[in-house]
Amino acid sequence: MSAVRSRLVDKAVLVTGSTGGLGAAIARRLAEEGARLVVTDVDESACRDLVAELPGGTERHLCYALDVSSEDAWRTVVALAEREFSGLSGLVNNAALGSIATVDQEDLDRWERVIAVGQTGVWLGMKHVGPAIERTGGGSIVNMCSILGTVGGLGNSVAYHAAKGAVRTMSKNAALHWARSEVRVNSLHPGFIGTSQLLERYAGTERHEAMLTHTPMGRLGTAEEIAAVVAFLASDDSSFMTGSEIYADGGWTAA
Ligand SMILES: NC(=O)c1ccc[n+]([C@@H]2O[C@H](COP(=O)([O-])OP(=O)(O)OC[C@H]3O[C@@H](n4cnc5c(N)ncnc54)[C@H](O)[C@@H]3O)[C@@H](O)[C@H]2O)c1
Repeated sequence: MSAVRSRLVDKAVLVTGSTGGLGAAIARRLAEEGARLVVTDVDESACRDLVAELPGGTERHLCYALDVSSEDAWRTVVALAEREFSGLSGLVNNAALGSIATVDQEDLDRWERVIAVGQTGVWLGMKHVGPAIERTGGGSIVNMCSILGTVGGLGNSVAYHAAKGAVRTMSKNAALHWARSEVRVNSLHPGFIGTSQLLERYAGTERHEAMLTHTPMGRLGTAEEIAAVVAFLASDDSSFMTGSEIYADGGWTAA
């Protein structure tokens, strides 16, 4: 990282899916910029390991095993965060599940799970954290979307497209609802990002090749490039932005 930044010193931010490829980079960047975090994921021991390596460790950050599709779990984690941090000022709705099945091949159980995590989970996060942010006088919700929430991509991943398309419009809807109370809601749309998890799944496959050839910049993004945009959206540097969709996609949607 180039310069020392401290845009988030007065912020307490909950991040979902924190231990995945992008989630861990986002947590590191927000913590480096001074935020206190509620680090959440379904994998609690991975959350603990991540908190231990963040600046300030367990003295500054909480960890909680949050399944974003459980409304009870959302109620519990918001109560915990409000008690421990005396309020929340941000949410990064980052957790999602993938499925690369096409429209004619997708299976109903997997479809429902992809929607439960990537769509319903984002709504539940906004439903429970939005009012908490309102109670602290405003703040920022970043909904992790995708270029696949806007364009047809590679002609597969139908359930993922459905979830991300919903995230894109729900974000604008929620932004309008909370505009006067300054709970800002923006969606972030990465192109394909070369996290170790993604490369493990696809390196050397036709899909990997397609990701590269369809990206005008000719490379995959890095998790740190996405985390930098999240930090901007979570900070007051983006204070007049709400209902926006931000693309960090190497030019994919410009083509
Ligand atoms: N990697 C990319 O190329 C890319 C591109 C565009 C958008 N995105 C989006 O960025 C976000 C993070 O992607 P990633 O690449 O880090 O994915 P990832 O699969 O590496 O991480 C996802 C995380 O979500 C967690 N998770 C799964 N089910 C959960 C549940 N029910 N409740 C809570 N957490 C759960 C997983 O344990 C994992 O840690 C996702 O929303 C994804 O759709 C990723």
